[in-house]
Amino acid sequence: MERVKLIELLNDMSLEEKIGQLMQLSSNFYEDEAVLTGPAMEFGIGENEIDQAGSTLSIFDPETIKKIQQKAIEKQPHHIPLLFMADIINGYKTIFPIPLAQGCTFQPELAKECAVVSAKEASAGGLHVTFSPMVDLVRDARWGRVMESTGEDKYLNSLFAKAIVEGYQGKQLKDKGSIAACVKHFAAYGAPTAGKEYNNVELSMRSLREDYLPAYQSAIDAGSAMVMTSFNTLDRIPATGNKWLMQDILRNEMGFNGVLISDWAAIEELISQGVAEDKEEAARLAINAGVDIDMATNIYIKHLAGLIQKGTISESQIDKAVLRILTLKNDLGLFENPYKDLNPEEYSRYNLCSSHRELARKAAADSMVLLKNEGILPLKKSGLRIALVGPYTEELHLYGAWSLLGEDKDTVSLRVGMECAGSENKLYCIKGVNLIPDQEFLYGFKGLVTERNPVTSDSFEEAVKAASEADLVIIALGEHAYHSGEGGSKADLRLPKQQRELFEAVSRVNRNCISIIFSGRPLDLRDISEGSKALLQAWFPGSEGGNAIADLLYGKVQPSARLAMTFPYCTGQVPVHYDHFNTGRPFNGDHKNRFQSKYLDIPNEPLYPFGYGLGYTEFGYSEVRLSDTLMKKQDTVTASVVVKNMGEHAGTETVQLYLQDQKASVVRPIRELKGFQRVYLEPGESVEIMFEINEEMLRFYNHNMEYTSEQGAFTIFIGENATTNNQAECYLQLD
Ligand code: NOJ
Repeated sequence: MERVKLIELLNDMSLEEKIGQLMQLSSNFYEDEAVLTGPAMEFGIGENEIDQAGSTLSIFDPETIKKIQQKAIEKQPHHIPLLFMADIINGYKTIFPIPLAQGCTFQPELAKECAVVSAKEASAGGLHVTFSPMVDLVRDARWGRVMESTGEDKYLNSLFAKAIVEGYQGKQLKDKGSIAACVKHFAAYGAPTAGKEYNNVELSMRSLREDYLPAYQSAIDAGSAMVMTSFNTLDRIPATGNKWLMQDILRNEMGFNGVLISDWAAIEELISQGVAEDKEEAARLAINAGVDIDMATNIYIKHLAGLIQKGTISESQIDKAVLRILTLKNDLGLFENPYKDLNPEEYSRYNLCSSHRELARKAAADSMVLLKNEGILPLKKSGLRIALVGPYTEELHLYGAWSLLGEDKDTVSLRVGMECAGSENKLYCIKGVNLIPDQEFLYGFKGLVTERNPVTSDSFEEAVKAASEADLVIIALGEHAYHSGEGGSKADLRLPKQQRELFEAVSRVNRNCISIIFSGRPLDLRDISEGSKALLQAWFPGSEGGNAIADLLYGKVQPSARLAMTFPYCTGQVPVHYDHFNTGRPFNGDHKNRFQSKYLDIPNEPLYPFGYGLGYTEFGYSEVRLSDTLMKKQDTVTASVVVKNMGEHAGTETVQLYLQDQKASVVRPIRELKGFQRVYLEPGESVEIMFEINEEMLRFYNHNMEYTSEQGAFTIFIGENATTNNQAECYLQLD
């Protein structure tokens, strides 16, 4: 439909109809079984209002979607179709590794492929919008939702944000297989105080702009059709009612002109947050902030008309919001075809088809980070007696908290993966302990979660016995998927006690322990790391998890992932991130000097730094060479290193470029990631890797909050992770 026609349509709509477009109803208005991810609301609305709704969320069955859409078009006075939205976070039916794991691939193009597949499956299932990507910068592993982000680095997150949006949306939303992206949660939801879910965010303006906004900006620049507000406050103002944040920053500065949706019931939560007296005031704050869609409350539908009558808000505010929603529907081609790509035959054919599974397997293997290997990996294909123990031995919930359609029956367990890959080895599988700690009541998104196959009382001893008789032990440990995700904050980042006890007992009887950790966050793995010969961080790897692990353990695939989030030494060290600042008294290793920036009881260094990860070979780096040691404003300087595969296996290295501004008008991070290149090298092979460096890469918010660079020396680091000391110095000259 042409824009003039859209405007004609808008002008012809009654106020009631227009406000209906701003209301998003949850699935329980349309079906019996609801997926509720927030407080259930007492709506007090009738059928007429339901028929006027503009969108709904979390309805997945294509036949149901078709019926609901048919009815909606019939009933809506102008036959305006509904938008069907859902959380497709790391896959629709084919489940990919969780976003944090995808960040560890350091392959945005791979995440894009996963998004393309997710969109293809979801659109055949009748969906139009996904609430993804979540690009909140995360530095505190206590927060359960770190699993939904691609990590702690603004540059890396920005690349993934762009790639994922492009993957979902394709060339244009109308095209077959495209769905609209909704980048979230605007803004800075990833920095809740003390890692506690829904908590307030206290951030400096500089950090907000420099660290937190870039990834949202990148998603917006890539054309993200929607943005979702966040639950948190920012500078003591809840984001969902923050006019400055949504209008001045998001729309005017960042150039977003799509649809802004509240998070679940976030408009109503303005009351509990203490900035709105009642629902009417909450409605006023949100509409004035420019929030177009009210997700899952009746606040807009109940109060906007009254506010217009009173003259508190104007109808033109509503018109603007409605026009944005109609534009999105039009961009998706819904006025011509309200079912878009919904197609039950294709839906069954695409879901979990072999090419999608193949991609899931590759993405999973490429996302698992090998943290330690004392020569025990890769495994021999035959002649080994392997004890496979731990709660993840046969666990099938490998898809993380946010995969609403992931099913156990479609998932490859570790046991199955290992049996297929190493049929000439002998595998003894014993769980040993439960995944959900005894005495714990764990509530997932749909109620109480129970242990799948609870262990018998002698399982622990059997596991230890099997370990003592085996050549080596693979011990599969971790947190349950619902220990992370929304509502999954934790104050202790260690594994549950029973699992630690199992590890201790098993590693005492067999020194050849290969530990595999499933989790949605970096955990405190000190003891596990110390007692293991090899340690693999498997995250929640998705449908093909078991196969992907076996691929890595048997060396069919070389481990190549790098940490996108720092692994803390212990919980007390978080929030921890590589791009921190120097203090006036940096620690120089001298423990006798009390008055330096350090802890008395733990090291300053994390257990494993950002960018870290091993493969089955080692790479050597030459010194950093520069094309010039002086860089003028318009110049570029080329920094290069020669990287050589020094080992006996082929492998992929992720060569990382970091810059440090040595002195500026404000304190600068000790280094920042500015580029990386993945390179595959055969044994003995070497290659020259070059990075172009320019003035733009040195910009920051200066003392006067101008985004600019300053003249002076800077350090260029090129190496294998964020702690590299392979460096050279250059000088930026501006005049
Ligand atoms: C609440 C979550 O914060 C958000 O990320 C999600 O998209 C909505 N619920 C809808 O399920």
